[in-house]
Amino acid sequence: MISIALDGPAGAGKSTIAKGAAKELGFIYVDTGALYRTVGLKFLREGYTTELNCDIEAVLKTIEVDIKFIDGTQHVFLNGEDVSDLIRTPEASMMASAVSAKPPVRAFLLEMQRKLARENNVLMDGRDIATVVLPNATLKFFVTASVEERANRRYKELIEKGMDVNYDDIYNDIETRDYNDSHREIAPLKPAEDSIIFDTTGNTLQESIDAIMTIINERLN
Ligand code: DC
Repeated sequence: MISIALDGPAGAGKSTIAKGAAKELGFIYVDTGALYRTVGLKFLREGYTTELNCDIEAVLKTIEVDIKFIDGTQHVFLNGEDVSDLIRTPEASMMASAVSAKPPVRAFLLEMQRKLARENNVLMDGRDIATVVLPNATLKFFVTASVEERANRRYKELIEKGMDVNYDDIYNDIETRDYNDSHREIAPLKPAEDSIIFDTTGNTLQESIDAIMTIINERLN
């Protein structure tokens, strides 16, 4: 099986690039962030705050996470319920970030991710795919873009959705999140030694998909 790891910070265009490339390759696109969001949703529903003052292992024992591909699109299930849309709220994002820093949560989701890669050709998007989940991935990319570019993209996206947002707040949020993600003790966000650094600054999404496909085709052939 062929596995391609795509790690990198939020807002670098990872998921759009991964979806586009997976479609061209006929691979499954696995969004591992959705798994952390699904676990986070359960903690939210149990009424916990992001401080997570609780017995994490005990809560994990009440959780069954499943991932299914319906018409090529990933759906995630929490104890049998399709929560693919419910995990996209800002609250679920915050809780996903909190639970993802907890070692038992990372251990809980590890085997599921590895199994997917053993059984399918995958393009897997996350933070620690190349470093922890699939250290023997066929190809590894670290997708990044400048903070300005990511803040601009996010700002435009939210304005288009009709939200009243402030550019400086978004910029500061991204900087803080980058710092937290890359300085956490467990599975910090960083490129593997053999990752290809893929900078999307200044590219349109289609330009990025085309550029990554050129590299993938070169390396796989
Ligand atoms: O990519 P995303 O925003 O959907 O990810 C949600 C959260 O999960 C984010 O805070 C980072 C974390 N995450 C992680 O720690 N490891 C992964 N492989 C994927 C996501």
